[in-house]
Amino acid sequence: MAISSSLMVDQAIRQSIEALPRGHWDFANADTKEWTHGYHSYPAMMIPQVARSLITLVQQHRPDTRSLFDPFMGSGTSLVEGLLAGLTTVGSDLNPLSRLMTQAKTTAWDPESLETWVQTLMDYVKDIQIAEADWPHFDNVTFWFKSTVITELTRLKRGIENTVPDGIQPFFWVAFSDTVRWVSNSRNAEFKLYRLDKTRLAQWNPDVFGTFRKVIARNQVGNSRLWEQRPLPAVSLYPYNAMDLSALPDGAFDLMVTSPPYGDSRTTVAYGQFSRLSLQWLNLADAAGGPAPNKLDQAMLGGVASQALQHALASPTLAAALDQIASHDNDRAREVLSFYQDLDVTLQEIARIMRPGGYQCWVVGNRTVKHVQLLTDRIITEMSERYGLIPVVNFTRAIPNKRMPKENSPTNQTGAKVTTMNGEQIFILRKD
Ligand SMILES: C[S@@+](CC[C@H](N)C(=O)[O-])C[C@H]1O[C@@H](n2cnc3c(N)ncnc32)[C@H](O)[C@@H]1O
Repeated sequence: MAISSSLMVDQAIRQSIEALPRGHWDFANADTKEWTHGYHSYPAMMIPQVARSLITLVQQHRPDTRSLFDPFMGSGTSLVEGLLAGLTTVGSDLNPLSRLMTQAKTTAWDPESLETWVQTLMDYVKDIQIAEADWPHFDNVTFWFKSTVITELTRLKRGIENTVPDGIQPFFWVAFSDTVRWVSNSRNAEFKLYRLDKTRLAQWNPDVFGTFRKVIARNQVGNSRLWEQRPLPAVSLYPYNAMDLSALPDGAFDLMVTSPPYGDSRTTVAYGQFSRLSLQWLNLADAAGGPAPNKLDQAMLGGVASQALQHALASPTLAAALDQIASHDNDRAREVLSFYQDLDVTLQEIARIMRPGGYQCWVVGNRTVKHVQLLTDRIITEMSERYGLIPVVNFTRAIPNKRMPKENSPTNQTGAKVTTMNGEQIFILRKD
C-alpha cells in the first residue's frame, strides 16, 4: 500500500476512535464470560469487548485483514475474538496451561457428543477405586489438597483418560484444571499461591465432582454457542518464547492484538505460580518439553535480572524512569531493566513477522515501581520505532472489572500499599 494511503488509513482509524461515545472502552457492564471466554480463570485477562472493538476497527479500515497473531495469548481472549471475526488466528505463550485453555476455547465440539461423554465419564468415575498409591507424586501435593480431594481428582483424571476420546479431552482437561484451582487449599481470590489459614482449612470440605459438573455445564453452554458459528477459521497455537519467533515467517500477519505481561513475574503477576497446581496435575510441562512448573516464571519476560544498568534501549522515557528508580534502589532498577530488555527482543521479533501496513494493537498496564510510573505504552512505542513501527493512536481506558493486582507494596514497608494500576493504555502501531 502506498505511503499516503497508509497515512489515510491511520487517520481514518483515529477519527473512528474519536467518534466513539465517551466511556466506550470501559465496558463496565459487559458480559466478559460470553462465548467461550468464561472457561477458565486466568490473571490479567483482556476484556473480550476490547479485543473485539480493536479487531472490528482494523477490519473496517483494512478489509483485507485476514490473520491475527497474539504472542502473549494467555487464556486466548484475542484468539477467540479473532476467530469470531473470521480471521485465521495464531497464538503463542510460554505457559502450557495457556495453550490448553486457548485450544479448548477456540474449538467447537459437537454438543450432543460432548453431552454423551460427560454422562459416560460421570458414570465411570462412580465406580473407580483409588488407593493412595494412585495419587500424583508432585511435591507438596498433600499441602495443597486434602486427601479426599486428591482421591476425587485422581478418579476424575483417570476417568477422563480412560473414557473420553483424545480429540475431545482438551475440553475436559480445561474443566478439570479450573476445578483443581477451586478445590485446592489455596485462597481462590488470589492469583499467587497462598494457603488457606488454619481455621478456614479445618472447615474446608470442597465438593470436587459437584464443582467439576458445574464447570463442565457452564463450558458446555459456551461450546454450544461456538458450535453455531461453524465453519470457523483455522487456529494454530505455539509454545514459543515471544523473544524467539524464528519458526514463524517474515511478514506473516496482518494484525496483532495482545496484552503483554506488566513486568517480571516475581514482582507483578506470577502466571507460572497461578498455573502450577494445574500443570502438576496434568503433567503439561513435561508433555510440552518446556520449563518445569516451578521454573516457568523465571523463563518469562524479565525472569532473570540484568547484571548492570547500562543498556542500549531506544527509549528516553525508560532511561529517565530507570535513573529515578536507581536513585532509590539500584537492584530494583536492574530488575525493571531486564523486563524491558526482554521486551525489546520481542518487539523486534513481532515487527519482523508483521506484514508491512499491518497493525499492532496493544493493551498495557503502566505499573509503578518505587513511586516511579513506568509508561510502558510510551516505552514500547519508542523502542518499536527502530523496528519500523509507526505510532497511530494512544488512549486510556478505565478498568472496571479486570482481574489484576490494583495494589501492592513496592516500598516493602509492611502495610504500605500503593495503587499500581487503575487504568490501562490502548495503543496502535503500524508496520511501515
Ligand atoms: C497479560 S497475560 C495475557 C492475557 C491474555 N491477553 C488473556 O486475555 O488471557 C501475559 C501472558 O504472557 C505470557 N508470557 C510472559 N512471558 C512470555 C514470553 N517470554 N513468551 C511468551 N509468553 C510469555 C504469560 O504466560 C501470560 O500468559
